[in-house]
Amino acid sequence: MDLRWLIYVAFGVPLLLLVFIVMLKVLRKIVQGPMPEFLADFIDNPLRRRIQPPDKTALRHKIEPGMTVLEVGPGTGTYTVATAQRVGVNGRVLAIDIEPRMIKRLAQKVQSEGLKNLDAQVADACALPYVGDTFDAIYMITVIGEIPAPELAIKEFHRVLSPTGTLAFSELFPDPDYPRRSTVTYWSESAGFRLKEKMGNLFYYTLVFEKA
Ligand SMILES: C[S@@+](CC[C@H](N)C(=O)[O-])C[C@H]1O[C@@H](n2cnc3c(N)ncnc32)[C@H](O)[C@@H]1O
Repeated sequence: MDLRWLIYVAFGVPLLLLVFIVMLKVLRKIVQGPMPEFLADFIDNPLRRRIQPPDKTALRHKIEPGMTVLEVGPGTGTYTVATAQRVGVNGRVLAIDIEPRMIKRLAQKVQSEGLKNLDAQVADACALPYVGDTFDAIYMITVIGEIPAPELAIKEFHRVLSPTGTLAFSELFPDPDYPRRSTVTYWSESAGFRLKEKMGNLFYYTLVFEKA
């Protein structure tokens, strides 16, 4: 490849990607609501799994064996299965999604993989069907920016989380609903959390909170 082509590729590919991401973000301002189920396979791809590997993400979210964990907005469960494996036979994962077709596909996965410690149900993050102090950990991946009332949802997470529990958010820059770190921190602190740990780079981040 001559130098001219090398320059085209080196600058052209990132530029095209950036234009694509900006177009997605503009489109998202027009078309609102939860991500449709037919896009689930599009967002579960090898590049994303490299940036946000399911097994490492469970560790980033401070998930430990034996925990009772809530995943909000699992979609078809790209990350849920790894969490269920991480908590093990003495732990339990509950996954809620507002989109019934996502839950249907996740429930099929649970059945086909014989996962005994994972339950999936349709519910809204803003009205959780659980009593207070139910969970050791709550997490969500590329979800909070999609919820129209994020502060209300985070208050719900505070209610159902145990006093020593953790709340984790993972986000990915190309997601059209990507919220800035400072915005998620502001929402969470307003709901009674304090930042415990942060990690990430230009493309992704994870923020872990505890009760203040
Ligand atoms: C971009 S997808 C992310 C799916 C999965 N977490 C992942 O990272 O692959 C966002 C998910 O959040 C769900 N969601 C959106 N609003 C919700 C709400 N208010 N309560 C529960 N789930 C919600 C959507 O239905 C969708 O499955």
